[in-house]
Amino acid sequence: MRLEQAGRIGVPVLDVGCGTGENALYLAQQGHEAWGVDASSRAIRKAKAKSKGRGIPVTFRVADALNLGRLGRTFETVIDSGLFHTFSDPERVRFVDSVGGVLHRGGSYFMLAFCDQEPADWGGPRRVTQEEIRATFREGWTVESVQPAKFASKIHRDGGLAWLSTVTRL
Ligand SMILES: C[S@@+](CC[C@H](N)C(=O)[O-])C[C@H]1O[C@@H](n2cnc3c(N)ncnc32)[C@H](O)[C@@H]1O
Repeated sequence: MRLEQAGRIGVPVLDVGCGTGENALYLAQQGHEAWGVDASSRAIRKAKAKSKGRGIPVTFRVADALNLGRLGRTFETVIDSGLFHTFSDPERVRFVDSVGGVLHRGGSYFMLAFCDQEPADWGGPRRVTQEEIRATFREGWTVESVQPAKFASKIHRDGGLAWLSTVTRL
């Protein structure tokens, strides 16, 4: 929401790993052309039902984030809330290629991922360090910022500790 309010969302925008689509629906509600993709057909069914029920147009598709080229579309912005940190090291390499293949030159990729300061006592996905983020996007990208942020979460009283990264495709 803060990125949208700051005018950082160029269109069209793709929410990769959108789950049931709340972020894409929010952006579409603000007037942006939005797409959402997820590997889970169940999540996309729910996202489509929300889109229809709320009367907010979003293009939702079942798709693999590691093969975004199959969408046959390119985007000015890609947002990722909670997907990157689920990938293994080899998948990260494929993911960055995949996102780079659908993002316009100069376009922005915004990523929210659990950070290394988030306690490990509850399990959850991989934690990500700033250094890993910068190393992953070393070639063909500029990491503009990696800022402390919070995940809204049902298991944290005050949110989960995250990095919000802003990365631009060269
Ligand atoms: C933690 S959830 C985040 C959902 C949503 N972005 C949010 O912020 O609530 C991660 C999502 O990534 C999806 N996902 C995992 N691997 C994927 C892949 N290879 N391609 C597309 N989606 C994937 C999962 O199905 C899940 O919906």
